[in-house]
Order: sequence, then C-alpha cells, then structure tokens
Amino acid sequence: MWRRSLESLVFSISRRYVAKECNMAQLIDGKSIAQDIRKQLTQELKELLTTGCPVPHLTAVIVGEDEASKKYVANKMVACREVGISCETKKLPASTTQEELLDVIAKLNKDPQVSGILVQLPVPDHINERTICNAVHVDKDVDGFNEQNMGRLALDMDSLVPATPLGVKRLLEHFNIETLGRNAVVVGRSKNVSLPMAILLSSDGRYNTKALDATVTICHRHTPPKELARYCRNADIIVVAVGKVGLITKDMIKPGACVIDVGINRIKDEKTGTFKLVGDVDFDEVRQVAGHITPVPGGVGPMTVAMLLHNTLKASKKQFSDRNSC
Ligand code: GUN
Repeated sequence: MWRRSLESLVFSISRRYVAKECNMAQLIDGKSIAQDIRKQLTQELKELLTTGCPVPHLTAVIVGEDEASKKYVANKMVACREVGISCETKKLPASTTQEELLDVIAKLNKDPQVSGILVQLPVPDHINERTICNAVHVDKDVDGFNEQNMGRLALDMDSLVPATPLGVKRLLEHFNIETLGRNAVVVGRSKNVSLPMAILLSSDGRYNTKALDATVTICHRHTPPKELARYCRNADIIVVAVGKVGLITKDMIKPGACVIDVGINRIKDEKTGTFKLVGDVDFDEVRQVAGHITPVPGGVGPMTVAMLLHNTLKASKKQFSDRNSC
C-alpha cells in the first residue's frame, strides 16, 4: 500500500517535471536561420552573376561618430562581403549639413555601379530623417524606409520591405506559426519597425505579397499598462520593439503564444560587472509560458542583417532586369 503510494507520488512528480520541460517555449534561433539564409544568398548570387548581372554593390552612409551605429554598419559590411556583395561605407562628419547629405545621396542614386543605399539612422538632429529616407531612390532603398516603398507595402504591392519586420516574417514562416485570423499585438509604433511589422502581419496578399492575415493591435506609450497586459494576454503572436527592459512579463502571455523580441537594451550584469544585451521580454520567465520565443541576442538581430542582404540582391536584380528590358 505504502509502496504503491510512493510509486504514484514519484510518477506524478516526474510527469510534472517532464511536462514543465516540454512546456518550455521552443527557442527561435535566428542566428542559425540567418546563417542558412546567407548561404542560400551566396548561391543565388553566384547564379545571378552567370546571367550577366553585375556584382551587387551596397553603399552605407554614416553621419557622425555614434559608436553603436559604426558597429552595426561594420557588421553589415562583413555580412555583405561574406555572401559576395561588394560594399563600402561613406563616413561623413557630424557637422555635415542636410544639403551636403542630400548631395551625396543624389550622386549615389545616379551611380549605375551602386545597387543599394543605406543611410544609417539616427542622423544628427539638424538633419531631417524623413527627408533623407525619401531622397534615397525607391529602387536602391534597401532599408525600405522611403515613403514609396512604405506606401507600396501598405497596399500589398511588391516593394523593398524594411529588414527587421521582413526578418520577423521569415521567422514566423520558418516555424509555421499560424497567423491567419490569429490575434497579433505589436508593441511599439516606430515607423521603421513596428508600423511595417503591423502592415505585414495584417497583409491580405491581394496583389503581389504573401498574406499573413492576422488581426493586429498596435500598443504604444499611451496604452495604459493594464490594457497592454490585456491585449498581450489575448495575443497569439506578440512582437515587441520598444527598448524597455522587462516590459513583457510572464503574466502577460497566453500559453503557447509566439513571442518575438526586437528590443535591444545594454545593461550592466550585476554579477560580473560587465555589460550585456537583453531584449524587452523577461526571457527566463516568459519562456515558461510561451510556445515560441526569440532570444536577445541571437534572435531577430541576425535576421535583420540577412534581410538587408536579401534586399540588396533583390534591388540589384530589378535594376539589371529594368536596364535589359529597355
Ligand atoms: N539604425 C538602426 N537600425 C537601422 C536599420 O535597419 N537601418 C538603418 N539605416 N539605420 C538603422
């Protein structure tokens, strides 16, 4: 009798332990998926060159001395070279005027050797970011920040799509995350990440984009915390891109939801005294409830770089085909 009770106790504890292990969210390893995409792009580029298309070339423009921006751009250049895209960085002083920057962009727009242009953001305060994004030629706008590309995206037309939301879309597809009719919450309303993310999630595929067909809610700084928690708890997919440590907690997650963390925050690790990167999601807690989760670093970040390469190849192909069809 005692033995049987003990056995059943051990069985029930071990079952709970196994269930807890199994219930841990599946990790979305963006780093490894991005690496595979980069390999595919390398192959695609090799094949493209055999058709007579010139080697794609990306020019990055960086204004000022922001260390993080310099590092991001340097990473992008390394990634370009790895897949065979030629690239260069134009470094301009922080004192560069808007007119001077517009002049640099106009020259790059006209240069037939340049297939993609990227102006690293943020630009210094005396320069209007929107004016700069709109000045980049729509066909060379590998960031997808130009108003024409944004407008085309909103209308479900083929366009150069901003790299971060495009990377998130690829992750959802990779893991077969169902989006049709599901509730998606985008936390944050930046024009370069959250807005195109919300547009992609709600896309209907009527023209020439692939539909995701989700029901989308955008939450932002004026969404009361209680409401944010309520919207999140009702979401099958959460994409958070705010830049606030610990914003998304376990109690805000519907069991099995897919949680995509776009936030990048540099914090001091109290144990070691060194700095580390964390996202906006309380990763260790949320992974106990979510179905899928991206880590920071190693989740969305590498996908952004891979999608920039994808866009550069796409831009190059279009320019080549437009030149040949004239
Ligand atoms: N600054 C931070 N992210 C980005 C990006 O994806 N593109 C550009 N141009 N600037 C950025």
